[in-house]
Amino acid sequence: MSQTTLPRSSMFQRKSITALLDGRTGGHELKRCLSARSLVALGIGAIIGAGLFSLTGIAAADNAGPAVVLSFIVAAIGCAFAGLCYSELASMIPLSGSAYTYAYATLGELVAWIIGWDLVLEYAVAAATVSVSWSSYVLNLLHGFGIDIPARLAACPWDTVAMPDGSHVAGLINLPAVFVIICVSLLLIRGISESAGVNMTLTVIKVAIVLAVIVFCVGYVKTANYHPFIPPNTGNFGEFGLSGIMRGAGVVFFAYIGFDAVSTCAAEAHQPERDVPIGIMGSLAICTLLYIGFALVLTGVVSYHAMHGDAKPVMTAIDVTSFPWLKVTVNIGVICGYTSVMLVSLLGQSRVFYAMAQDGLLPGIFGRLHRRYQTPWLSNLVFMVFTSVLAGFLPIEVLGHMTSIGTLLAFSIVCAGVLVLRRTDPTRERRFRAPFSPLVPLLGILVCGAMMLSLGWVNWLRLGVWMAIGLLIYFAYSRRHSRLIQEAGA
Ligand code: ALA
Repeated sequence: MSQTTLPRSSMFQRKSITALLDGRTGGHELKRCLSARSLVALGIGAIIGAGLFSLTGIAAADNAGPAVVLSFIVAAIGCAFAGLCYSELASMIPLSGSAYTYAYATLGELVAWIIGWDLVLEYAVAAATVSVSWSSYVLNLLHGFGIDIPARLAACPWDTVAMPDGSHVAGLINLPAVFVIICVSLLLIRGISESAGVNMTLTVIKVAIVLAVIVFCVGYVKTANYHPFIPPNTGNFGEFGLSGIMRGAGVVFFAYIGFDAVSTCAAEAHQPERDVPIGIMGSLAICTLLYIGFALVLTGVVSYHAMHGDAKPVMTAIDVTSFPWLKVTVNIGVICGYTSVMLVSLLGQSRVFYAMAQDGLLPGIFGRLHRRYQTPWLSNLVFMVFTSVLAGFLPIEVLGHMTSIGTLLAFSIVCAGVLVLRRTDPTRERRFRAPFSPLVPLLGILVCGAMMLSLGWVNWLRLGVWMAIGLLIYFAYSRRHSRLIQEAGA
């Protein structure tokens, strides 16, 4: 069908929920094997990563000071509203594809495309962000064993590195970050079974490390480091004061990304209507408590001034203590924890593009499975190259901000989806309902929108450019190949 013959309204065509539910997995039901507890563990496993171990220091030094704790609370509130909306949609449409699938059923194809394209920021760009932080922790570990990689080969061209002669020069490429992205992608191609048991072990390690840092460092807190708790604004938006707390929330929001992974498992939960909300809200609540404790201890042990440009603030904090052995333990734990976040992110990325390819919105290579491994290997290879380039050549702040603004957009659209479905499909069974609707979805949009605004115009510009590229692809390719539009035309 040629583009010119498409009716204008076709891009707002929605998938029928009934058809979606009837057509799932070709009639094969996924095994309902996940309990509420496994879902909470899955959520925590996907959530805790570079946001906590790296961005906490950056947000404290550049935006909020010790009040980064308040930034964590604001971000948690926004996530809780969005989490309730995710829970409602997941209990109505218990399918993989998450926000992309929900948008296709509620707001139409164009918005579904926008969200699918936007999710590249949440998944692939998040993996690149984590890989950059992973690189700094690996260098630190190797340095402890007397192995040093040339500094310019472990930093992107936007970062400066100190040379042995004391001069400062720009980096060339972050090779360790590229290396880990390649390894994780190859592992995904080979086939990775995300067993709940393995995830549970990794999650226990991560939580134990956060608790260990809190317990072993709390005795070294200097209350002087908390003064002033909210440093006065410098005159620039987002640099301390109230706007700093908000921008800090936009930055550390990254630390909460991942709880929506729970919603993609709705089809595998024992009782989705009960277990998915427990999984989402339970993992969010536990992580919020851990984050508050961690941020309080970190900013109490190390002055926020000293954390400027420090990608490993937790190591700086441990240096202050008399537990040097803790450094190696935490370092290894962080590296393992990051690896699982990158795996889940790149896995989620290939799943969303797989779903989009099935719908005809993306070329077939994203939907083609490897004959032997049954994985979308070409998609994994494309994202291996894309993510490696980002990881090798961009600084962590840019990557982290792009991930946050993109995910916040996705969350806002999911909240809007709940509002739309309550109006357009009020009688459909909702095994879980977001309470106080329309208040909760509206507040979700408001808080996520405020965090997006706080991220500043440069990040909006980047988001705008990314979305413009996406729209070009939609109108040049996806609209002409959309299965839904073709079926409607036929
Ligand atoms: N929330 C994940 C992290 O902090 C993406 O690494």
